[in-house]
Amino acid sequence: MALSVCAAKNCLQQQGDDFLLWSPSMFQHVEAYPGDPILSLNEAFGKDTRPGKINVSIGIYFDDNGKIPMLPSVRAAEHKVVNDAGARPYLPMEGAANFRSAVQHLLFGADSAAIKEGRVVTMQTVGSSGGLKIGGDFIKRYFPQSVMLVSDPTWDNHRAVFEGCGMTVKTYPYYDSTTGGLKFEAMLEALKAADKHSIVLLHACCHNPTGVDLSKEQWQALVPVIKERELIPFMDLAYQGYGDGIDEDAFAIRLFAEQGLSFFVANSFSKSMSLYGERCGALSVVCPDAAQAVNVLGQMKATIRRNYSNPPIHGGQLVAQVLSDATLRPMWEAEVKEMRERIQLMRRKLHDVLSAKVPGRDFSYFLTQRGMFSYTGLSAEQCDRLREEFGLYLVRSGRMCIAGLNSGNVEAAANAIAAVLK
Ligand code: LMR
Repeated sequence: MALSVCAAKNCLQQQGDDFLLWSPSMFQHVEAYPGDPILSLNEAFGKDTRPGKINVSIGIYFDDNGKIPMLPSVRAAEHKVVNDAGARPYLPMEGAANFRSAVQHLLFGADSAAIKEGRVVTMQTVGSSGGLKIGGDFIKRYFPQSVMLVSDPTWDNHRAVFEGCGMTVKTYPYYDSTTGGLKFEAMLEALKAADKHSIVLLHACCHNPTGVDLSKEQWQALVPVIKERELIPFMDLAYQGYGDGIDEDAFAIRLFAEQGLSFFVANSFSKSMSLYGERCGALSVVCPDAAQAVNVLGQMKATIRRNYSNPPIHGGQLVAQVLSDATLRPMWEAEVKEMRERIQLMRRKLHDVLSAKVPGRDFSYFLTQRGMFSYTGLSAEQCDRLREEFGLYLVRSGRMCIAGLNSGNVEAAANAIAAVLK
């Protein structure tokens, strides 16, 4: 069939027959994107020209000067990596072997029996979001009927990622707005009633968005329920080191591995190494035995190949260098401690100023919640006022990133919050 370009009409025509292959209305059915609730706020903050603006929206650690730090340990690792760098072949689909091994030991502990038994497989992924996506695609293929249960509330993007994998996403009770704590009994009851092989998304530490974590005893109480219902935990560990410590924050992961559970872990180095733009993450799967682990790794490779083929080299090599170098590792651990303690200091200051300015209101949740985030209980309208009148950017759910506060702005942030609460 002969086709010719009809320049006058700006379209392709079949000779003799006037049918249109291209038209100015081709994408008319594509609806406008309302924007991501977190990333759009961060973009709006960037465009705000007011000098006193404060960004407590996105989950990024800023230092006391309001800057994203370049950690000295990571900088030193980068010098070495760049110095030693050679050709840039494709990495294997599952990523670099030194990165994968270092991640396993960081998550499961240097003496992990599960690692020694060959039951753990780890893939280097494009951020932990990449790990969630790869894990979600794998689950959809091998557990097609399984529903994904996420905490109410959870990170804004969890639902989108797993629904994007074709999964049905439902919630289990989690945050108690009356206490600013956890509805643990309700959570447990919901999991006891869950269908066999339901996937349960759990925040291993520093729950995003609430900052409300399970205690060690509560994690232990989950284990028999997971075994009884044959649930499959999917742990999200994006803030390791920001809660109680690097090893302490891996408590639930190590417990589940010791207890013989099969589960997924997506982890990230965006926050713990301040490597946001390098998209360094991993997905690990703990399997019942080594033979199943081999097949899981194989199918994960196929899943990665279908998505992005293989991960980039550079960031993963920085992480591997920091984690495996006898000088850089303790340096990094001290840097993480400093970031964690600065956040705790900001929590204390915010609590103290607000308690003084708004007497009779309980702000103790700022002290009990862990990690970067606190759920303030502020309404969407109050958050809008804070942004518009005071230049204080919070996510409209009321989530506040405490790591955006510093000694120069914490008082102003507290004053603004006090003003909208009165
Ligand atoms: C957040 O929750 O703010 C961070 O994890 C950044 C993001 O991608 O949403």
